Amino acid sequence: MRLTQLSIILLFFVQCSHSARILGVFPLAGKSLNILYNRLMKGLADAGHDVTVISAYENKLPLINGSITDVILTGFAEEYDIIINEENFLDSPEEYPFYTVLYYLVLFEPIWNNTLHHPNVQKLLASNKQFDLVITEHLWNDCLKVFAHFYNCPLVVFTSMGGINTWVNDQVGNFFLPSYVNHAMKLSGESEEMNFAQRAHNLLFYITDYVYKHYYLFPNSNAMLKSAFSNPPDIEDIYDNVSLVLLGSHASLRPAAPLSPNTVEIGGFHIDPPKKLPKDLQEIMDNAKHGVIYLSMGSHLKSRDFSEDRKKMFLNVFGRLKQTVLWKFEDETLPGKPDNVFTKKWLPQMDLLAHPNMKLFITHGGYGSLQETIYHGVPVLAISVAADQHNNAFQAVQLGFALKLSYNDKRFSEETLFNQIRELLDNPKYRENAQARSRLFHDRPMKPLDTAVYWIEYVIRNKGADHLRLSSTKLSWYKLYLIDVFAVFLISLLVLYRIVSVLLAKIFKKEQRKQKLKKN
Ligand SMILES: *[C@@H]1O[C@H](CO)[C@@H](O)[C@H](O)[C@H]1NC(C)=O
Ligand SMILES: *[C@@H]1O[C@H](CO)[C@@H](O)[C@H](O)[C@H]1NC(C)=O
Ligand SMILES: *[C@@H]1O[C@H](CO)[C@@H](O)[C@H](O)[C@H]1NC(C)=O
Repeated sequence: MRLTQLSIILLFFVQCSHSARILGVFPLAGKSLNILYNRLMKGLADAGHDVTVISAYENKLPLINGSITDVILTGFAEEYDIIINEENFLDSPEEYPFYTVLYYLVLFEPIWNNTLHHPNVQKLLASNKQFDLVITEHLWNDCLKVFAHFYNCPLVVFTSMGGINTWVNDQVGNFFLPSYVNHAMKLSGESEEMNFAQRAHNLLFYITDYVYKHYYLFPNSNAMLKSAFSNPPDIEDIYDNVSLVLLGSHASLRPAAPLSPNTVEIGGFHIDPPKKLPKDLQEIMDNAKHGVIYLSMGSHLKSRDFSEDRKKMFLNVFGRLKQTVLWKFEDETLPGKPDNVFTKKWLPQMDLLAHPNMKLFITHGGYGSLQETIYHGVPVLAISVAADQHNNAFQAVQLGFALKLSYNDKRFSEETLFNQIRELLDNPKYRENAQARSRLFHDRPMKPLDTAVYWIEYVIRNKGADHLRLSSTKLSWYKLYLIDVFAVFLISLLVLYRIVSVLLAKIFKKEQRKQKLKKN
């Protein structure tokens, strides 16, 4: 009797709770990326969901509610380190050619294929576990959308890049016109409005994206799917079967652009309110009479790999300043370090940026770092190196809270570095602009992580969000841009012009003849 009562009560709770089974697929082993994935999946678990994550690392964050089951891609972290260490990103040219994206497609492809074939993933697929939703980050890994197909559930695509990611926007029909939105991989000019040559150059970036998608990505994705599944879907059928796109950006940090109703911005969701600093750092920060400059190149790039020449420039410039400098430097020692410079292999970036004495952040311009600095309203000197960093830096300059000196900028010298740092420290407009952007960044109806959880639960509740999908994703490009209609209009106009001109000529001639006859 008691047992049945208990089971009735239990059943009641099971039905009342809205715990869903969510699968996250995040194979890229980049450390800064995994901070984002981890935070997002913890957010979902904390909301009471039963979360499973396919990734290179185990979740170490404490959970408040729900659960996280890790499906570890063993060997991926080591493999990733090898790939990253082989690429010397610091040698990247400042200006990328328009076919740059192909480089990333080729670089990452084996990672996606190895994910599909990984024994732990195969074990998960063979188990009878079911899911209500799949989330993945888009990095040209469209073959991973097969998980949503396999579990017959909605798919959410997240991107850690800023809002301008043609590949992700394309999946939900957000089209940022190349006439006014710079491609994420393109080095931007100094002014906001692109001239003719820049627009043409920008268009080439967009066109190559289209070509790679159809003639490289799709065939290769199909080949990978065929090698891993006995009856795989065609990539074209799953490519834009996306219920929701979560952009890791925010309107306060990018040019305004139209977004589809199933695109939601959650930039800053990974930033928690500041925690207490370790004692030594707290003392350095508190005691810096002239404020602190913080230098970090993120987790992929390492400042210990700076050329000797660049290292010397930084040290000379820092030696000329009164400010204290905290430098995330990955070696034990930094020879020639002036007394005002402190180095550490790792620094609690978000908590440091929160300190009132923080005056300037010298960063590579990764999107995550820019959001963290704007969260706290700190001005930036962007030493952009590769990928979307130049574009991120350009946008920060446009918004008036940053200066940009790319690592391989021809103007890079001790004097330019010194002058830019002095300008950022002495001219109050950078801090004011950073603070103004910070207010915009915080001014939202809901916290970004709550927004992400709300929309993911919305998609689960409604079994997808078909009604929010733009039908433009189904149109081919010539229909989308009405090229066929314009072509018919143009031809009709030409034909009409021809008919009218022939008629007019005839009438005119007749009139002339009549006049001649009259005269005669
Ligand atoms: C835990 O999750 C359940 C849903 O599964 C929810 O009803 C409950 O309020 C959550 N508890 C806390 C403390 O957040
Ligand atoms: C497309 O997504 C829906 C859920 O939103 C799913 O039921 C359907 O099976 C998916 N289609 C394909 C071809 O995967
Ligand atoms: C993917 O990996 C499998 C197993 O390692 C291999 O047989 C196959 O050729 C790979 N496919 C592609 C397209 O790289």
